[in-house]
Amino acid sequence: MTRQFEGKIAAVTGAGNGIGRACALAYARQGATLAMLDKEPDALEEAAALARQSGVVALPIHGDMTKPDIVESAFAKIRADLGPVDILLNNIGQTARENYSEFWQAKPETLQFVVNVSLMATLLCSRQVVGDMRERRSGKIVSISSDSAMNGDIGTVDYASAKSGVLGFTRALARELGPFKVNVNAVCPGPTNTRAMQRIPKDAYERAKNAIPLGELCEPEDIANAVTFLSSENARFITGQTLMVNGGRVFY
Ligand SMILES: NC(=O)c1ccc[n+]([C@@H]2O[C@H](COP(=O)([O-])OP(=O)(O)OC[C@H]3O[C@@H](n4cnc5c(N)ncnc54)[C@H](O)[C@@H]3O)[C@@H](O)[C@H]2O)c1
Repeated sequence: MTRQFEGKIAAVTGAGNGIGRACALAYARQGATLAMLDKEPDALEEAAALARQSGVVALPIHGDMTKPDIVESAFAKIRADLGPVDILLNNIGQTARENYSEFWQAKPETLQFVVNVSLMATLLCSRQVVGDMRERRSGKIVSISSDSAMNGDIGTVDYASAKSGVLGFTRALARELGPFKVNVNAVCPGPTNTRAMQRIPKDAYERAKNAIPLGELCEPEDIANAVTFLSSENARFITGQTLMVNGGRVFY
């Protein structure tokens, strides 16, 4: 394993569990200094301890990254304790889960919650790092969208709207930051083996699996492989793009 991120500072939102944790650990194995942000303190501390096993510094920052003031102080702490961020992974996001109802009956506060966590946090966190990236004329921003944005899965009107927003964000910011040699890309996972998928009923799980041409669910490490590639110098000429990592469930 090359330590290609040695000397780089990577900030990962939602680093405590699932895809975010897998990506943070992959950055750590490849030598990055980590800022790990999450609202679940126990999961966050556990993930940071795992990251440190790769011999890197991992700074856990606890808080709700949909709140502008918390985001601002979190990134101020990263800058003060570690330095300017080289790589930002915008990972947090979720469906309405237990508050789900069909769109025509959805409560406005649920719609607002899903948009805040699945889109607004990406805008807020990115805004904190682009100043330094512009000034230093380098940086990578990778955001986790979802192939639901492309497929328009049943029961995901709010989530697909927000995750489509992440793709628009990616394209527009890539254009804005291109002259500053900052790459901005998105990854769209398909159904991935994290706790969200593990909680759904068995028949829904089987249906999801059977709809994937490669015949299995994505693993968080599959997403980490795509994310670390897009965060690396091997992807220096790739920007504004959406990479589907979904076993072929949705073609784009
Ligand atoms: N699992 C899938 O099947 C799947 C498919 C497509 C896209 N995605 C996307 O991948 C990303 C990660 O999903 P996952 O399955 O790993 O989820 P997860 O629930 O396993 O992990 C998400 C992490 O983000 C943290 N988090 C959530 N809201 C937060 C907030 N407001 N502030 C700080 N931390 C917060 C949680 O505490 C948790 O540690 C999400 O954007 C999700 O929409 C997941």
